[in-house]
Amino acid sequence: MISWCSCLVIFCLLQASHRASGVAYNITPSEPLFPNQTLVSSGNIFELGFFTLSGSENQYIAIRERPLAYTDQSAKLTIGSDGNLKLMDGQENIVWSTNVYSRSNYTSAVLLDSGNFVLQDGNYGEIWGSFEDPTDTLLPTMEVGLNVRTGVKKSLISWRSDSDPFPGSFSTGMTSGTPPHPFTWNGSTPYWRGGQWDKSKFIGIPNMDQSYKTGFTVQQDPQQGTTYYSINRYDIFLYMFISPRGSLTIMRWDDGAKVWLMEWAAPNNTCEIYGTCGPFGVCNSLNSPICRCIDGFVPKSNEEWNGGNWIRGCVREMELNCQKNTSTSISTNVKKDAFWQMSQMKLPDSGDYVSDVEDEEGCESWCRSNCSCLAYSYVSTIGCMVWSKDLIDLEEFPTAGEDLFVRVAHIKAGGSRHRAVIISLSTIAGIMFFAVFVFVLCKWRANKTGNLSKIRRLLDSVDTLEKSTEPTQGNAWQEQLKQDDLPELTLYSFDSILLATNKFSTTSKLGQGGFGSVYKGKLKDGKEVGVKRLSSASAQGVEEFKNEIILISKLQHRNLVKLMGYCIEGEEKILVYEYLSNKSLDTFLFGWSFLSRYNYFSIIYFLP
Ligand SMILES: *[C@@H]1O[C@H](CO)[C@@H](O)[C@H](O)[C@H]1NC(C)=O
Ligand SMILES: *[C@@H]1O[C@H](CO)[C@@H](O)[C@H](O)[C@H]1NC(C)=O
Ligand SMILES: *[C@@H]1O[C@H](CO)[C@@H](O)[C@H](O)[C@H]1NC(C)=O
Ligand SMILES: *[C@@H]1O[C@H](CO)[C@@H](O)[C@H](O)[C@H]1NC(C)=O
Ligand SMILES: *[C@@H]1O[C@H](CO)[C@@H](O)[C@H](O)[C@H]1NC(C)=O
Ligand SMILES: *[C@@H]1O[C@H](CO)[C@@H](O)[C@H](O)[C@H]1NC(C)=O
Repeated sequence: MISWCSCLVIFCLLQASHRASGVAYNITPSEPLFPNQTLVSSGNIFELGFFTLSGSENQYIAIRERPLAYTDQSAKLTIGSDGNLKLMDGQENIVWSTNVYSRSNYTSAVLLDSGNFVLQDGNYGEIWGSFEDPTDTLLPTMEVGLNVRTGVKKSLISWRSDSDPFPGSFSTGMTSGTPPHPFTWNGSTPYWRGGQWDKSKFIGIPNMDQSYKTGFTVQQDPQQGTTYYSINRYDIFLYMFISPRGSLTIMRWDDGAKVWLMEWAAPNNTCEIYGTCGPFGVCNSLNSPICRCIDGFVPKSNEEWNGGNWIRGCVREMELNCQKNTSTSISTNVKKDAFWQMSQMKLPDSGDYVSDVEDEEGCESWCRSNCSCLAYSYVSTIGCMVWSKDLIDLEEFPTAGEDLFVRVAHIKAGGSRHRAVIISLSTIAGIMFFAVFVFVLCKWRANKTGNLSKIRRLLDSVDTLEKSTEPTQGNAWQEQLKQDDLPELTLYSFDSILLATNKFSTTSKLGQGGFGSVYKGKLKDGKEVGVKRLSSASAQGVEEFKNEIILISKLQHRNLVKLMGYCIEGEEKILVYEYLSNKSLDTFLFGWSFLSRYNYFSIIYFLP
């Protein structure tokens, strides 16, 4: 395939040594274009000409597969007797021809102000246009995508290197499924995936909403079998191109500074490279390490995984109930699988669209009733999507993204949370023990006796707590959490917190803990509070955060400061504690919060 580059002006400005001495506005049978000339669009926006790259012996007129010798100054782009546009070398050999049929006996070629280089056939209009064969660059109104009926594929194909326009290994295009995804491939291997088109943006490009949304469209016509992506934005000059190193980039012309600025590029970090964390692995660029397994899954090879090679991904820890042979357990209660919710996700690749499902419940029951369904997601602008192959290319975003529900064995879903509770409680017990230890040390000199009973009481209370929260059966604990929904706690608005702490002023700061800072604040009603602002570096979801709050609120001890409420707004996660004014600041001992994989804990402990 011969591909035309339509935005030569860019090459002329940036890379080509510009040798032209004359300007032409069209090419006619009697007026060919020579290497010493350029063809200019009527509005002087685009310019087309022969160009030479530094260090190269070749000259190109954007037909990158067939360069001409640099020395061939009598090469020309001309119109042949059959009306076709032809590139001839100095020996009058035809290097390339448009090869289209012309009805009239008068054709001419012009460069339009859109950058499209077209061959016009007398009064019959355009019979050939360079936009039909993109090279590595996408200009507004150009399309990339495919027609599954005709098999015609329009992709951007990278240069082999910065100095060699020959087609390289990277290409960018669209997939034809519902919903479509944009992809960059390295050869035939996926290199980057933009995620599902949700009719206004790609789910895998979370910041697309703010800056790139306007004018970026995907048109899908199931009747014609076509899926095309294009940029329809004319208020600013921009173009998209695929670099020889596989980076898909949007450049924008800054008219003030007269430079092209890089507006966006993908992949921009390791998480954005396709399948970095392997099947059933999740990437989060804010975490370290960036990869983890979906809950209920474990690394396929611990050694590789811990060594930072995540490509082989994760495997299911426990067989799905629906996959077990039912013959043996037919009389007993067959346990149902559960769905593990993951939030703010780039949804995995290779899903199927279920057309006759109208809502999230329908989507869940569809997935539940089909054992090969491994996950589902319902996005209102798309509908119900299900996955039956390995879940690959999952990414967790700090904002945006969609909910994904992953099928896990029943025990795992209940158990996972259960286990988290037990772990957290034992950690809390550990902390308390440590606190008690310090407390004992401090008190040691003053009062050498009577402490053992206090320690015992403290530990007893933790014991009781563990017992009381131990799930008796199945989902009880999960359901209890839902019902509870923070009964005695107040949900504070972020504004009221700002007011109370004087916008987190340094004078109101009491101290800095592991995962946040503690401030002294005064609520509107005059009540003094301790405000713990958790740093936003965690990817913890709101649900998990709430669960932690419930735990903390259940920890009652006279030396433990009472949790009064919390605030969740945007990235902000804040805990509001009672402030004990009769304790001096010196007694403020511990302001802990620490992060396990999902959970925040924050306990403020005062020495008696
Ligand atoms: C450009 O090159 C052609 C062919 O070599 C020559 O005929 C023509 O005079 C040149 N024009 C200018 C302006 O140098
Ligand atoms: C082609 O050109 C000749 C004159 O050069 C003219 O007489 C004839 O009508 C033209 N044919 C068409 C189809 O335009
Ligand atoms: C692209 O693929 C080639 C051949 O498989 C490989 O050598 C190269 O490292 C890949 N490039 C990137 C950026 O992944
Ligand atoms: C890369 O990502 C960072 C952080 O997400 C963002 O600030 C930056 O603009 C991105 N760069 C490009 C070129 O897209
Ligand atoms: C399930 O049962 C079938 C035949 O009853 C047997 O061939 C298969 O190996 C069993 N699978 C498992 C996982 O036990
Ligand atoms: C279950 O899901 C698989 C994969 O999506 C599909 O091929 C199959 O037809 C479904 N089975 C039923 C009974 O719907």
